[in-house]
Amino acid sequence: MATTVTWYGHAAFGVEVDDVKLLIDPFLKDNPLGAIKPEDAEADFILVSHGHGDHVGDSVEIAKRTGATVISNAEIASWFQDQGIPAHGQHIGGGFHHPFGYLKLTLALHGSKLPDGSDGGNPAGFLLTTPDEKKIYFACDTGLFGDMRLIGEEGVDLAVLPIGDNYTMGPDDALRAVKLLGPKHVIPIHYNTWDLIAQDPDAWAERVQTETSTTPHVIKPGESFIL
Ligand code: NI
Ligand code: MN
Repeated sequence: MATTVTWYGHAAFGVEVDDVKLLIDPFLKDNPLGAIKPEDAEADFILVSHGHGDHVGDSVEIAKRTGATVISNAEIASWFQDQGIPAHGQHIGGGFHHPFGYLKLTLALHGSKLPDGSDGGNPAGFLLTTPDEKKIYFACDTGLFGDMRLIGEEGVDLAVLPIGDNYTMGPDDALRAVKLLGPKHVIPIHYNTWDLIAQDPDAWAERVQTETSTTPHVIKPGESFIL
């Protein structure tokens, strides 16, 4: 049993757990790094971390075409339901056993207004425990916070962290996040989509390699990491 995590650029991911297909924050059409087109995306579930356009992305279109269920905080879940899309609302600290594993919403320090100005509740990250007990932490858009240590206590196999700065943690704080979380593997995201969040992921990976016992993986949009 393996879990395949494929980066589609920016914060968009496809995750395949057994035969269940997840999309996370599928911002594809307007994504300068978008590795697939929304019309080619497959999903049984779509996880939306917060209301910003570069995360909600093409979720509505993809959900309507595929019949996927959206999972997000309760406010965003209602926003999708109001558009006739099946959605499952959770909230920070709350977990639920889905067909792809146990998904818990985690704290994220960020905003969450939806593209049409609706209240998107509190932003979240995702802690996924797969059926074979692997833990993947998607920090999503957030600043550094000390309670990442509590998430790390659960034993994180793979952490996916923003390094872009300006809107989220930059490289220095993302390195501190690695030290708090202590994951086996880390993948940097949310950089180089626009000039405003330009970063050198290889230089960051070098620091992770030197200063922590975590293995960094710099992957290109369209590439996968198998856990
Ligand atoms: Ni955001
Ligand atoms: Mn973002």
